[in-house]
Amino acid sequence: MNLDIPELSLIALVGISGSGKSTFARRYFKPTEVLSSDAFRAMVADDENDQSASKDAFEALHHVAGIRLRAGRRVVVDATNVQQHARAELVKLAREHDVLPVAIVLDTPEPIAWERTQARQDRTFGRQVLRSQQQNLRRSLRNLGREGFRKVHVVTDPGDVTITYERAW
Ligand code: GTP
Ligand code: MG
Repeated sequence: MNLDIPELSLIALVGISGSGKSTFARRYFKPTEVLSSDAFRAMVADDENDQSASKDAFEALHHVAGIRLRAGRRVVVDATNVQQHARAELVKLAREHDVLPVAIVLDTPEPIAWERTQARQDRTFGRQVLRSQQQNLRRSLRNLGREGFRKVHVVTDPGDVTITYERAW
């Protein structure tokens, strides 16, 4: 599967926990391009799972994203982004910096994500959390274009992806 992505864009990864966002980001993007909500939670609160730190973490993430976009540098946001308000903030940020927002959806079936989650030491939440994320995602999928994402790529086989950067004229 080939993903066309504008050369300068804000790329929102979208997917439930365990869908493979961080793995995908490591595989296809430079480490410095990827801003992960987990890393920012750790940065501001010493704990990547501390959900009470999310507000501060996203404030810091958006700030750094803005600085990178202003300098003409690509930004990949590694967060679930299954909630409309989270995505709206990213679309707004992209617009403020005159770059195109792009969504890459990791559409991994919930039972597979759950299986992976159970095998992880660094995730302790229950299945209801995943199910609720999945519901949000399902509701979101058909709206992404209308929300302002210039491209919406839905990935079902993350092992078979090439990314082509398009120059914007
Ligand atoms: P959160 O950070 O919790 O939102 O999850 P995530 O979407 O970042 O998932 P992550 O990339 O951390 O992957 C979760 C688990 O699934 C890890 O143990 C990965 O090794 C595994 N995994 C990720 N992508 C794939 C894949 O394409 N195939 C297989 N078999 N395992 C994968
Ligand atoms: Mg992750």
